[in-house]
Amino acid sequence: MLNLILFGPPGSGKGTQAAKLVDEYQLLHISTGDLFRYEMGNNTPLGLEAKSYIEKGELVPDSVTIGMLRNKVEANPDVMGYIFDGFPRTETQAEALNTLLAELGEELTVLLALDVDDEEIISRILERGKTSGRPDDNDESIIRNRIEVYNRETAPVFDYYDSFGKSEKIDGIGTIEEIFDRLVATIQTRI
Ligand code: C5P
Ligand code: MG
Repeated sequence: MLNLILFGPPGSGKGTQAAKLVDEYQLLHISTGDLFRYEMGNNTPLGLEAKSYIEKGELVPDSVTIGMLRNKVEANPDVMGYIFDGFPRTETQAEALNTLLAELGEELTVLLALDVDDEEIISRILERGKTSGRPDDNDESIIRNRIEVYNRETAPVFDYYDSFGKSEKIDGIGTIEEIFDRLVATIQTRI
């Protein structure tokens, strides 16, 4: 299997590139943010719990996020591989993912980190907010909090996988096709 983490700050293009990588490699795309939004849309207990964090730009507690991710993976064992988008967001989540993949007799192929600077991210998210219907995309103070949380809690996940030689940084500025080509070129060096 080809198991990818698409990594990077909010608004760095993970969802856009994940959709293209799914087509290229026939992977199952698991976006924990999309899963939370689905639960919120259905007003489930999980959705209501997640909402209280998401609307402030905070992280949902690890135990909740890991449980949801595990359910999604275990419900889809017969796939060519997984592309994790927006997960892991903390080192605890990264360790849980390692355990889960090991239980499947699998391991991570590579973490691909999209590198985009803060000002570009803020303008991209505000632009996306015009049509995404996401309250957390429409308020600059929430967006700035999401970036702070990313720098504090999520950025260390890059170093965690880097210590196993599994992290790659990808220039996230350019056209969608240019960035996609960079991702594919890097994946090809790993398979
Ligand atoms: O990944 P995405 O940007 O769509 O996530 C939206 C929000 O969902 C995050 O800002 C955060 O509040 C929550 N989230 C989380 N933990 C994750 C993924 C998303 O708390 N692993
Ligand atoms: Mg996304």
